[in-house]
Amino acid sequence: MTAEYQVHGAVAVITLNNPPVNGMGLETRTAAVLGLQRAAADDAVKAIIITGAGKAFSGGADIKEFNTPKALAEPSLHTFIATAEGSSKPVVAAIHTVCMGGGLELSLGCHYRVALPGAQIALPEVKLGLLPGAGGTQRLPRVLGLEPALNMIVSGNPVPSEKLPALFDEIFAADADLLQSAIAFAEKIAAVRPLPKVRDRKVDYPNHEAFLQFSRNTVKAMAGPFPAPLECVETVAASVTMKFDDGMKFERERFLHLIQTTESKALRHAFFAERVASKVPDVPADTPVRAIKSAAIIGAGTMGGGIAMNFLNAGIPVTLLEQKQEALDKGIATIRKNYENTLKKGKLTQEKLDQRMGLLSSTLSYEEIGQADIVVEAVFEELGVKEAVFRKLDDVMKPGAILATNTSTLDVDKIAAFTRRPQDVIGTHFFSPANVMKLLEIVRGKETAKDVLATALALSKKLKKTGVVSGVCDGFIGNRMIEQYSRQAGFLLEEGALPEQVDKAAEKFGFAMGPFRMGDLAGNDIGWAIRKRRYVEKPEISYSKTADLLCEMGRYGQKTGAGWYDYKAGDRKAYANDEVNAMIVQHSADLGITRRKISDEEIVERLVYALVNEGALILEEGIALRASDIDMVYLTGYGFPLYRGGPMFYADTVGLPNVLAAINKYAQGHQGKAWKPAPLLQQLAAEGKTFNS
Ligand code: 3HC
Ligand code: NAI
Repeated sequence: MTAEYQVHGAVAVITLNNPPVNGMGLETRTAAVLGLQRAAADDAVKAIIITGAGKAFSGGADIKEFNTPKALAEPSLHTFIATAEGSSKPVVAAIHTVCMGGGLELSLGCHYRVALPGAQIALPEVKLGLLPGAGGTQRLPRVLGLEPALNMIVSGNPVPSEKLPALFDEIFAADADLLQSAIAFAEKIAAVRPLPKVRDRKVDYPNHEAFLQFSRNTVKAMAGPFPAPLECVETVAASVTMKFDDGMKFERERFLHLIQTTESKALRHAFFAERVASKVPDVPADTPVRAIKSAAIIGAGTMGGGIAMNFLNAGIPVTLLEQKQEALDKGIATIRKNYENTLKKGKLTQEKLDQRMGLLSSTLSYEEIGQADIVVEAVFEELGVKEAVFRKLDDVMKPGAILATNTSTLDVDKIAAFTRRPQDVIGTHFFSPANVMKLLEIVRGKETAKDVLATALALSKKLKKTGVVSGVCDGFIGNRMIEQYSRQAGFLLEEGALPEQVDKAAEKFGFAMGPFRMGDLAGNDIGWAIRKRRYVEKPEISYSKTADLLCEMGRYGQKTGAGWYDYKAGDRKAYANDEVNAMIVQHSADLGITRRKISDEEIVERLVYALVNEGALILEEGIALRASDIDMVYLTGYGFPLYRGGPMFYADTVGLPNVLAAINKYAQGHQGKAWKPAPLLQQLAAEGKTFNS
């Protein structure tokens, strides 16, 4: 049973019991409605309580059921709520911990609501590209008032129960026994008639049209490509402008529309992708993890400093190690400056700043870091330098310490082999700026122990990162794919496009930044150094030399004030540069290419399908465990548009046969040999399947 039924004296108690968060799937709804019917039929029962077992009252509708027949099968959530509301005996929702989405909507259909303080109350549907579809948009404004309800519905953010006195008939003491208190409450109100129903209330808001118009304008400006926020406003508006039943019909219609949108499917994909990413088939959830109570970071440069901040923010003491005092001082000053900037923005208190800086110490001596539970190496990207560091770490670190490398391209297995404990070595690839970016690629070496991997995954949660596991290969998941994207960006320049057009097309598609603006931000010299190394090793790989020519002009990007574009001090805008564009045109002429007009559609297809094709190879080779992991890497590390769900999900929505056809077409064009359709893509396209099914 996914809802239990018990009787305590004259009070029946229905306990939703569908772990982990009592999502209201078909079985749960069926069992709960049966409970309501049983209570109705029992003359000894005078009142009914609905509550939730374990960690939640209810997290809402079961999202896993969406777009399956079970979602609409009877008893639907509407039927469940209508049965509670229509009960001739009072129904009390007894709320604790989490009451969200359909869970809150259920409670609004109950005659009374009681709660423990600290419960998270939310209608978070908008975060899944939806609106509350089981009466939330009609009932919440009737209880809280138009403005507070609209804020909750449009933001989707949780509010603690004690901050919503209007929602509850009673909020018990924090240490009260919820069930006992709810039973006492139910006994008290058992005989009260008529039964109070939220639907009978009116939303009273003088001059509501002006308020609603203001809300439409504000929400439209903030919603970007997502349709749900504005739909939320329109349905909440119906709570004032329509009768209750008409408002409910309107809400239903808009909900059913939104659930079919790609934007909502993409958001739901991302929701589950984020959670499944922490699951590794051969590393069970109960794998013991090593305690991480202290950390050491080697190298206080760009990455080392940012990585240190992650640990400090999580309350884990950090020792920074450098070769020279100046480098240490500089690194620590940068960390302090970053925190001070956050303080100035009002997002950090002085007390917290002091607390975090108090957890930071520094040293020039390896002997002082030997007792750290984890050490993260973030020194120069040269195998020789890494070798020296790892040999030293092997000598000084206590047994069981985790030895992590932040390398972005080097072979983690080779690095592990510099030690006598390769089982303790793992890649933790943070993204720049490391204190901001959500992504953490966790690189599993061939000898990495399972508990080390489990610890890294648990640590990523503690550091508030999205951890995604990658196997060892050049560039891991993210950078290996971006290389193909950059190659296409370069070829597009040779054939007729200019950086501005490519960037604009990519940004119109939804990327946070086009490839050339991104190059200018990251530093074009970094890619240059990698290409020098990589293309010596792999001369068969063709690539456009325009980026090398750019670097030869000394145009490394924002840090030199000039890259693909010009930059002015105090202004982040990118200004096209005639000399750069002339260099690009001249380069085409040198190659004997007649430049042509390239459509934005072709630009986007070539950039995105280059990612997809390499992603398919990565999947096939087992470097990524699942397509959704690749999507997570791109959503959290590379500014891929969330509403498109990541490159693999996007390819699924386009249709894999269409993606394959386009790749085959581009394989006939300029530098066509860069396109070799991945066998997995061919296979799935032929079978009519998708990456994410
Ligand atoms: N349906 C199905 N599964 C759900 C779920 C839901 N509504 N909410 C959470 N889960 C699952 C997660 O997938 C995860 O599963 P896993 O253990 O197999 O990976 C598990 O519950 C735990 O989730 P979290 O890791 O997120 O746990 P937290 O404790 O950090 O957070 C939570 C719990 C606050 C409930 C968070 O999961 C959350 O925000 N969930 C989404 C809630 C939501 O959006 N509800 C609205 C649903 S839509 C709706 O109700 C439509 C209605 O209006 C008609
Ligand atoms: P950086 O040049 O800013 O910092 C490196 C620091 O390491 C310097 O402060 C240097 O003094 C110190 N160092 C060098 N050798 C040392 C040694 N033997 N012992 C102690 N300290 C030493 O470099 P950055 O950008 O921080 O990169 C560090 C690592 O992170 C590299 O492996 C890089 O590939 C990787 N990485 C870099 C990203 C970026 O965007 N910068 C993104 C992701 C990974």
